[in-house]
Amino acid sequence: MKTRVIKITDPKSQSFDIKEAAQLIVDGEVVAFPTETVYGLGANALDAGAVQKIFEVKGRPGDNPLIVHISDISQWHDLTDEIPEDALLLAGKFWPGPLTIILKKSDRVPMEVTAGLNTVGVRMPAHPVARELINQAGVPIAAPSANRSGRPSPTTALHVLDDMDGRIPVILDGGKADVGVESTVLDMTGEIPVILRPGGITPEMIEEALGHVRIDPHVMSPLDGNKKVRSPGMKYIHYAPKAPVILVRGDLDKLISYINEETQRQINAGKRVGILATDQTIKSYGQGERLTMGDRHKPRELAANLFGRLRKFDELDVDIILAEAVEEKGEGLAVMNRMARAAGFHIVDL
Ligand code: TXA
Ligand code: MG
Repeated sequence: MKTRVIKITDPKSQSFDIKEAAQLIVDGEVVAFPTETVYGLGANALDAGAVQKIFEVKGRPGDNPLIVHISDISQWHDLTDEIPEDALLLAGKFWPGPLTIILKKSDRVPMEVTAGLNTVGVRMPAHPVARELINQAGVPIAAPSANRSGRPSPTTALHVLDDMDGRIPVILDGGKADVGVESTVLDMTGEIPVILRPGGITPEMIEEALGHVRIDPHVMSPLDGNKKVRSPGMKYIHYAPKAPVILVRGDLDKLISYINEETQRQINAGKRVGILATDQTIKSYGQGERLTMGDRHKPRELAANLFGRLRKFDELDVDIILAEAVEEKGEGLAVMNRMARAAGFHIVDL
């Protein structure tokens, strides 16, 4: 299959190009499209066969459910049985945007989408190309991130092409994703909402809107054994570049000396070392392939750059990556969650 990349600079005047992708969705095909978080791999959420194709193309484990993307609140009512007040309030405040809300699903949602769960995660993306695509298709679109399973999520059309070339007919190119990490996944099926995956909508923002929120303990700690998880996505290796990642956490001075010493040790052992640093620290390292995620006090900037940098280390062909931890506040929690998972929770605490 030949994969075409269609650049969309103005969704309104290029509605014809988007129409073509929308038609593919209606016909039961899988297409990649931009969202404000990361690129998605979309299919008609109401078509079990089309959804099945997503799992094949992505190489995704069958028990990991997909998020359903909508462009109109009425679609949400169709996909769920009952929407509690608090959920409506959050949607009113944060949609369109990087928040996925999990509720009991309606009979309309095929089991293929939810991987057998009786709940469904829904979000209304903010990217104009995503919204136009959903509008034109006239159906909700199920979409995971458009990477091959296990790889860092794609934040540009080129990342998608790297992973999906020859596997899907069309990639809509809507430029670099703003947020850069996936949506916040919030389970609202219980008494108190629980963040299963941190993202662009922070715990602080949800707390302020509702007065309460919990963070699932597995956001920053690995699962032990066969314990039951609330979100199947927590079980899998994620966001991993080819080289192993070690996440180094602690006081900035200690962190810099640790990374310098470890870099020297690895180089002596004949290894190519990647260092994932920040603007404030990058000059403190004398050797290795050094990349900065941005200003350590601007977590949104760090989030926007993280996955692109992880993919860059693949190009640089490093053998090991030493990554600096950042503060787990605001969007910083999402950044740390992705880094901890990319590292398989190999975290050095100083
Ligand atoms: O920003 C995003 O959310 C992107 C863009 C494309 O919208 N999508 C995305 O999808 O990140 P994916 O499939 O890569 O991640 C979905 C996550 C997984 O961890 C999955 O386990 C969880 O959401 N999830 C989906 N439905 C769920 C449900 N009903 N219950 C619990 N977890 C669910
Ligand atoms: Mg993903």
